[in-house]
Amino acid sequence: MNKANFVILAAGKGTRMRSAMPKVLHKLAGRSMLGHVVDAVDSLGKAKKIIVTGHGAEQVEAAFQNNTTQFVQQAEQLGTGHAVQQAEPTLDDDATVIVLYGDVPLIRAKTIEKILDVVSSTTMGLLTIHLDDPQGYGRIVRGSGGVIEAIVEQKDATSDELSITEVNTGVMSLKAEHLRAWLPKITNNNAQGEYYLTDLIAIARKHGVEIISINPESATEVEGVNNRVQLSQLERAHQKQLAEALMVSGTSLADPERFDQRGELIAGTDNFIDVNCVFVGKVSIGSGVTIGPNCHITDSVIGDGVQILPNTIIESSVVGDRAVIGPFARLRPGTELASDTKIGNFVETKKALVGKGSKINHLSYVGDAELGEEVNIGAGTITCNYDGVNKHKTSLADKVFIGSNSTLVAPINVDKGGFVAAGSTVTSKVPKDSLAVGRAKQRNIDGWKRPTKKGKED
Ligand code: UD1
Ligand code: CA
Repeated sequence: MNKANFVILAAGKGTRMRSAMPKVLHKLAGRSMLGHVVDAVDSLGKAKKIIVTGHGAEQVEAAFQNNTTQFVQQAEQLGTGHAVQQAEPTLDDDATVIVLYGDVPLIRAKTIEKILDVVSSTTMGLLTIHLDDPQGYGRIVRGSGGVIEAIVEQKDATSDELSITEVNTGVMSLKAEHLRAWLPKITNNNAQGEYYLTDLIAIARKHGVEIISINPESATEVEGVNNRVQLSQLERAHQKQLAEALMVSGTSLADPERFDQRGELIAGTDNFIDVNCVFVGKVSIGSGVTIGPNCHITDSVIGDGVQILPNTIIESSVVGDRAVIGPFARLRPGTELASDTKIGNFVETKKALVGKGSKINHLSYVGDAELGEEVNIGAGTITCNYDGVNKHKTSLADKVFIGSNSTLVAPINVDKGGFVAAGSTVTSKVPKDSLAVGRAKQRNIDGWKRPTKKGKED
């Protein structure tokens, strides 16, 4: 691979987004548009990245603060050529420069690699595409023998040139030394009074450098975003590609149009995902998993044969094989379910280690807790983990049974086989195989007279 310097243009205002946030920070699939471009570049290995900022520069720079990114500011947006000029002093002499756009988010690493590899001292690369409707784009002018001679912007084009359907995507690559020599030759003598980066093509031809065109694998790679409608269309196109990749790898989707992946999703085979599920961050699911409708899963590991019933929320958790979760369950960060566990409806867990075969079936809160194997938690059980200042731990050994509507005031231990009677408030240790009854004893009052409504008595 040629030594690469990437210049990512992100100075534009994005007026049509109608937003206080700079356009390139708007999200697609849960990641900012500029973030997608940066990720594609980073996936190719270490390379210098220079982001040209302008509108909302502080916000953009704050979002990408790390030692592998450099910023240059373009105070006034005088055109794409002018934008690249701002980055010129930071370029390495021996590098190949690739220009990318922060508002063209889905460019693939493979395509970037291709356009990088065609550059030599006598060649430069240009990413072009044929569009049925080339409206608005710069047109690729080819001369005799199909040689690329120039790019003509829509507003400067003759009617003959307007009928050209091969367009400039904006992505180009060339030797830093060529860029340095040619940038000063760009003028703003055109319909828009801008310094067009695209003028480099005609200049390159004058110097006998050949322009090699590369095509993207799919049109979504080079689609830019100017407003929220286009952003949503690109989001759907991207989601469709992700959904198709998932299906091809062996997971069925009830409806690929109602699937959302906002991060990395790794899945085995023979899984079924129902409609309206959202996967965020790093999620891996095993094989033979079914996920009901309306589930939201973030940064979690799901084992084999797991059933996730509708409307379940899982965050930063680990779910063991054959667990059954939901409907309407919420696993909060630090939940680790061993295999064959059950978490039922309206159960919330947090920092809870749940041993093999244990069940929390209904209406419970289990937080800061460690449960052994085959523990049964009755409906409505609450671990009181917080005393208003500190968090405390609940430890339940193997085969513990907690009766319904119990309150476990932590710190607390229930030893192996311990049994808590329904409705108990338990505040101290329950020894092995013993029964804890922590509630007022029932008394029955004979001939109890019910209260009557005031004023009705006589
Ligand atoms: C540009 C190309 C056009 C191509 C099209 C593809 C030029 C002159 N034209 O046109 O051939 O078909 O992209 O989408 O290059 N930007 C800056 N500073 C500036 C101007 C622009 O950072 O001074 C950034 C914008 O934020 C944007 C990108 O450069 O990310 C492209 O600018 P834009 O004005 O949208 O160019 P187009 O007119 O679409
Ligand atoms: Ca544009």
